Parts: sequence; C-alpha cells; structure tokens
Amino acid sequence: MKATVRAHPNIALVKYWGKRDEALILPHQSSLSLTLAPIHVTTTVEFGAGSDQVELHGHVAKGSERDRVLRLLDAVRVQAGRDLGPAKVVSRGDFPMAAGLASSAAGFAALAVAGRAAAGLPSDTRASSILARRGSGSACRSVQGGFCEWMRGEREDGEDSYAVQRFDAGHWSDLRMVVAIVDRGEKEVKSRDGMKGAVETSPYYAAWVKDAEAEVPRARELIAKKDLEALGELCERNAWRMHSTSLAADPPLCYLSPATLGLIQNLREQRKKGVPVWFTLDAGPNPVLLTDAAHEVTAEAVARACGAVDVVRCVPGGDATLLTEHLF
Ligand code: DP6
Repeated sequence: MKATVRAHPNIALVKYWGKRDEALILPHQSSLSLTLAPIHVTTTVEFGAGSDQVELHGHVAKGSERDRVLRLLDAVRVQAGRDLGPAKVVSRGDFPMAAGLASSAAGFAALAVAGRAAAGLPSDTRASSILARRGSGSACRSVQGGFCEWMRGEREDGEDSYAVQRFDAGHWSDLRMVVAIVDRGEKEVKSRDGMKGAVETSPYYAAWVKDAEAEVPRARELIAKKDLEALGELCERNAWRMHSTSLAADPPLCYLSPATLGLIQNLREQRKKGVPVWFTLDAGPNPVLLTDAAHEVTAEAVARACGAVDVVRCVPGGDATLLTEHLF
C-alpha cells in the first residue's frame, strides 16, 4: 500500500497552450517535450493512513494545491475499484530555484505512478500518463524519459489524450538544455490562467492551434535526424508563436522581462560567431537554452553575462522510476 517514485520535469519543444476541456485537462493541440535530468521530484504515497495528509516540498498543502493531489488519488481509487482508505503523500523536489522551472509536471507524474503502484495496480505508462494529465497537462509527458509526444486525442472522455515516448534519453545524449534564471520571482499569471485567456480572447488562437499541431511531426523528424540547427529554429519559432498568441489576448499577457529579451537577442550574436544555441520559453521570464555538450559551458557563460542569477545545466532524462527507499 506504499510506493515511492522519482520523476523528472520536461521542457516542451512544441508547447501545449490551451485546453478544450478544463476539468479533464484536454488540450487543443498536441505537444512534444524533452524530459530533463538530473533535477527531479520524489513522491511517496501510502493508502490506508488515518486521514488524508499531503506534504509538498516541506509544507502541508492546503486549498487548491491539496485538492489537485487528492482528486488525482480519487481517480486511482476508481481504477483500483476498491476502497483504499485515506492517503498520505509526501513529495520533495531538488529544484535549485523557486520559479525557474515548474516542478508540477515532475510532481504529478511521480504522484500518478506512485499512486497506481501503492494501489497495487500494474505498471502501465498510458494509464499513468492519463492520470498525470489530470493533475497538470504537461505532467503526462514526464511519465517517460527522452522525447515524449502528448497526442491531443479526439475523445470527450480523454482516454486517447496521453503522451507516448518517441525517442528514449539515449537517442540524443549529446543534447543539452541550459535553464537560465534571469528572474527568481513567482510568475504573476500561472500557465493555467494565461492559456485560458489566450483561448478565450486571442484572435490568433485558432492559428496557433493549427500551426503547433503541424510542428509536432516536423519536430519529431528533426529529432530523428538529430538536426540541432533546424530543431533550434523550430523551438524558437514555436515559443515566439505561443507568446504572440498571449500578447494578443485581452488583457494582453507578456511573460518576457527586459532580461529575457536581452538574453534571447544575444543568442543571435552567438550564432553568428558559430555557437549553436537557441532558446525556448515557458510561461515565465526564464529562457531555456538548447545546445550541445561541446557548447554547454559557453551557453552558461552567455546566460550569466546577460544577467542570469542562476543556471542549471540539464541532459536528457529517463522514465519515472519506482524507488525502494520511501520518504516516510
Ligand atoms: C507553457 O501543464 O502547467 O509550460 O495543465 O493547467 O496544469 P495545466 O498547465 P501546465 O502548462 C504548461 C504550459 C507550458 C507549455 C508546455 O509545457 O507544454
């Protein structure tokens, strides 16, 4: 009745931005990401506790944070088809910075896999991905390592909306992602609210959906060929288009800070000098630089010279895995 899982976060190369169903977390378009190591979240779940208890990153979870965890475990109970009793959950991340990279994707992926294992359900990446998705959309892409594609699906119940691994972490072990923290503050508008604004008010939203869907198979092909330059260009284009969609929302939403722009523009100079480095940007000010092993030190130096206060160098990460040591 107790299981512990470690999962890595992921960074989308083709972003998910907007839901067609908010309750089930079903996206308007497919997306594609790379799982990142070494950063990770570890989560222990035990059913049969005295009462429901949720501790996340050293504090007792309350309100909507607690509800999201307990709702996911309710879905595990339904899958198990029996009364598992109250649950105790403890989760800890080793994310070195506050808001650089969201820990929720790794957290919900670890919770989904640990929840199923604690309930005695067999290992099943598809079922775990669907469960993780119901905690946070991007979490469905952290159940497996390497390059994962979240297929939007067509069904209303979401049973065909989950992530599949296209290439494992070993496929392109030379690839590097360098997270550049230019701003440690909490983001003002969470992804969940930002994408809702885009869906409801951006006149560019329909174009975004069509374009992102078409970019996924192109990205897959470039990853198969390990074409860093073309993948870097695709990533930048997709990030700009996601952000443009939200810039055109009402009220407009801009996640970029002056430091973000300074760093992004400097990358063009680097490329002119022959340094292969591109960026992607989630719903916040901190760019993630895409480069190769030979240039990760240069990429870090460029980020710091452009004002990054912290830098985390990442490599392709593996699957969410069961651990034998528990957190309690
Ligand atoms: C910009 O998965 O955090 O990082 O489904 O509402 O929990 P919810 O949102 P979340 O959004 C991630 C948005 C993104 C792009 C991406 O990861 O694909």
